[in-house]
Amino acid sequence: MWFLKRGCWLQLFKFSAVLGSLWMLSLLIPLKRGRRTAYILRYQWQEYTNIDESPEKVCNCSAILQGEKEALLQAKLLTITNNFQKVIQIPNEYYINATQDCRKFQKSRKYITFPLSKEEEDFPLAYSMVVHHKVQNFERLLRAIYTPQNIYCVHVDKKAPASVFIAINAITSCFPNVFMVSKTVDVVYAGWTRVQADLNCMADLYNTSTTWKYFINLCGQDFPLKTNLEIVQALRSLKGGNSLESEEMPQGKKKRVMNVYQVVDGQIQPIGKTKDPAPFNLPILSGNAYIVVNRGYIRSVLEDKRIQALIEWAKDTYSPDEFLWATIQRMPGVPGSTWPNPKFDMTDINAIARIVKWQWHEGSEDSLQAAYPECKGHHVRSICVYGAGDLQWLIEQHHLFANKFDADRDPIAVYCLEKYLRHKALTELV
Ligand SMILES: *[C@@H]1O[C@H](CO)[C@@H](O)[C@H](O)[C@H]1NC(C)=O
Ligand SMILES: *[C@@H]1O[C@H](CO)[C@@H](O)[C@H](O)[C@H]1NC(C)=O
Ligand SMILES: *[C@@H]1O[C@H](CO)[C@@H](O)[C@H](O)[C@H]1NC(C)=O
Repeated sequence: MWFLKRGCWLQLFKFSAVLGSLWMLSLLIPLKRGRRTAYILRYQWQEYTNIDESPEKVCNCSAILQGEKEALLQAKLLTITNNFQKVIQIPNEYYINATQDCRKFQKSRKYITFPLSKEEEDFPLAYSMVVHHKVQNFERLLRAIYTPQNIYCVHVDKKAPASVFIAINAITSCFPNVFMVSKTVDVVYAGWTRVQADLNCMADLYNTSTTWKYFINLCGQDFPLKTNLEIVQALRSLKGGNSLESEEMPQGKKKRVMNVYQVVDGQIQPIGKTKDPAPFNLPILSGNAYIVVNRGYIRSVLEDKRIQALIEWAKDTYSPDEFLWATIQRMPGVPGSTWPNPKFDMTDINAIARIVKWQWHEGSEDSLQAAYPECKGHHVRSICVYGAGDLQWLIEQHHLFANKFDADRDPIAVYCLEKYLRHKALTELV
């Protein structure tokens, strides 16, 4: 029978008696609605279910996604239980071993190994993933965005522990369309090398395949809020445009591009010299490190002489990742760009690239300071690391990705989000 081949039969026996027999019934009894039958026959084997032994399975994700207080409280209590904290940790060595048999790894982790729709197949994407720790986070992110028609370049920080590098390298070698960047750099916080890591992936992605339509960059603590099909549809509706934060530089940030900075003892510091203005008197705009741009934008970054000069100029500034892409986005002639006029300014809230909750913009709707409700997880460097209580709000946002998640600290947020997305990806197709 068809489902024997797909390994469903074995899994079926692992079901609890009740669930298992219900599932059998749903297969045997002709269902009223053809859509549902088609879904069960074609895709249900790719759902994440409770038989995929994970310690988070005691949580009721549908209640959590609806923001139900009791379910959230239970999740919170579970999260702080010592035993739970212990069992959710996955050592890097696990991935090295588990990827020895790639087919088994892909299958047991339920990677999507065929394009789910023609629309997605015809619209491949290129991802740059810049990672330095938390292999479990990375693997779950990769699984959430993986499709065989996209390509993925992974940059692991040069100073990452060997076990992180080896584990991630082992994971990538299980997929023909996932590769390690050809040139690795030592990423310094707020320094130039953060941009260089993405640039190296951009060059590799551009060179590796000519078919991809859009580029998205991620870090290891991002997670999607949309399925691949939804991402493709959102990108198509941009009609060739890019979507990223690009607005006037706030007064307090101007010193970042007016002084010369250098890395001293692994930290970026001003050295007491002022910088010349940007080449061609380009207006420097403010944004962030995360962008959604078309292939032509990447070609410009790699080939446009003005941008080469801008890149050279930006190498001794503070946090160039937070102005370079924003500035390029407003340069005439760059595919998908907009005019430099402030009427075209775009905030991070309006762009679809990334939602990040900054601590000082949290609050209630009637506060002028607030742009989003309070963080339900915890903060790291003033950024919200989402808890399960943030999910209901997150999945209503138009952004393709959210930052930050931490599967070690708050695994239930990741668990419920990945289940929700997989279910949606499989059911939206039939
Ligand atoms: C989970 O929560 C949903 C929504 O409140 C509820 O309908 C369902 O019965 C719950 N499931 C379990 C197993 O408690
Ligand atoms: C290594 O992986 C294999 C399957 O790929 C598994 O059977 C075995 O138990 C694993 N060993 C360890 C030490 O995790
Ligand atoms: C692309 O690949 C070609 C040959 O394979 C190489 O000569 C060229 O330098 C590469 N370009 C980039 C930007 O890596």
